[in-house]
Amino acid sequence: MQLIELRAENFKRLVAVRFRPTGAVTPITGKNGAGKSSVLDAIASALGGGALAPELPIRAGQTRAEVELDLGDIVVRRKWTAKGSTLEVLAKDGASYKSPQAVLDRLVGELSFDPLAFGRMKPSEQAATLAKVAGADLDAHKAERQRLFDQRAAVNRQAKELAGALALMARVPDGTPDEEVSLTAVLDELKAAEQGQREYDLVRRTKEAALLKFEAQGKRVAALRAELAEQEKLWAEMERESQSAAERLAAAPRPLDPEPIRQRGREAEGLNKAVRAKALRANREREAAAKAAESEALSAALSAHDAALETQLAAAPLPVPGLGIQAGGVTLGGIPFSQCSGAERLRASVAIALALNPKLKLMLIRDGSLLDDDGMRLLDELAAGAGAQVLIERVADGKAVGVRIVDGEVAAEAAEADEAKAA
Ligand SMILES: Nc1ncnc2c1ncn2[C@@H]1O[C@H](COP(=O)(O)OP(=O)(O)OP(=O)(O)O)[C@@H](O)[C@H]1O
Ligand SMILES: [Mg+2]
Repeated sequence: MQLIELRAENFKRLVAVRFRPTGAVTPITGKNGAGKSSVLDAIASALGGGALAPELPIRAGQTRAEVELDLGDIVVRRKWTAKGSTLEVLAKDGASYKSPQAVLDRLVGELSFDPLAFGRMKPSEQAATLAKVAGADLDAHKAERQRLFDQRAAVNRQAKELAGALALMARVPDGTPDEEVSLTAVLDELKAAEQGQREYDLVRRTKEAALLKFEAQGKRVAALRAELAEQEKLWAEMERESQSAAERLAAAPRPLDPEPIRQRGREAEGLNKAVRAKALRANREREAAAKAAESEALSAALSAHDAALETQLAAAPLPVPGLGIQAGGVTLGGIPFSQCSGAERLRASVAIALALNPKLKLMLIRDGSLLDDDGMRLLDELAAGAGAQVLIERVADGKAVGVRIVDGEVAAEAAEADEAKAA
């Protein structure tokens, strides 16, 4: 589909303009302020509607503006009044379409894509422009990436603090138990041991006293032979008692040595300090390990996030050979776009523009004055080769080249030439 004829009235700077683009490249020429951009804007606004329309489409002092595009199979007519804009899309037989903007949206891709403007963008802007076409939101990606990055930085900070605290902690002696010693239990044990000792001493003293008595009695027996019979009875009794006491002593439980227990009591305080230090250290070690793991997981999430974007961009539907889109910029055959030659960039930019507008192969270029003669020749070659139309704005003072705009109108000589051609 081609732009066969443009007609515009009272749109921006334009008074009344009507022309037919000729050849692949149609320069729109004229002095500064003559109305060249108004011509390109008229086409973009008629096709793109609200998003591409200027703030003030109606020429000052007028009440209505109108742009009509003859695209061969259809005619597009958009009008602006103080109330707003209306759009009509007419078929060849004059019938109008019910949803005219939907018809245009199917026909027109990224009309606002200007190959020259694209070539001059910063690498990140170029990538963002193409990523948008590929359906990726680089800003959202950047924000999410920043969020993960900040989170990891905070976690790393905490991990470092924990490691620092660990390094400052005193070493715990080897063999320190996990549980604290119970001082009450030790005291109870000591009390029981002392009680046992007292009881044992009593039994022992009883036995010793009995033995002494028995011995004294023996001496008295010798001395009191006379009383022997009587005393022997007593003596025998005492012997029995003595024996029984000895048996009790033999049967009595051996008392525990209280000294080691006392020693454990004395050591308990220091030992318990070490136990607490050990527990604290183990706690810190667990926290440090957990933070390190968390940081690692976030690093993996960052990589996955970047990889997902790279994959989406790599699959972008732009049939331009050698074109690569990454988050940081656009490459051509692996070379950063800004390092490619002017011709290479123009070639790729035009190819992108064509890929974005496969049906209505129409490109609107605004800063055409930046292209030298070689650039214009290359553009002509590319557009002709692709069967595309280019309307390119170029500042020119002198002779009429292409469509010359003077004070919002097509200069007389060009209009006449155009009419002669049409006739
Ligand atoms: N709605 C409007 N009514 C009247 N004049 C307007 C309106 N909109 C823009 N203009 C005027 O149109 C002129 C700019 O028109 P336009 O941008 O089409 O010119 P140009 O030929 O592209 O100029 P340049 O060479 O500087 O790019 C300015 O003088 C501006 O004040
Ligand atoms: Mg301009």
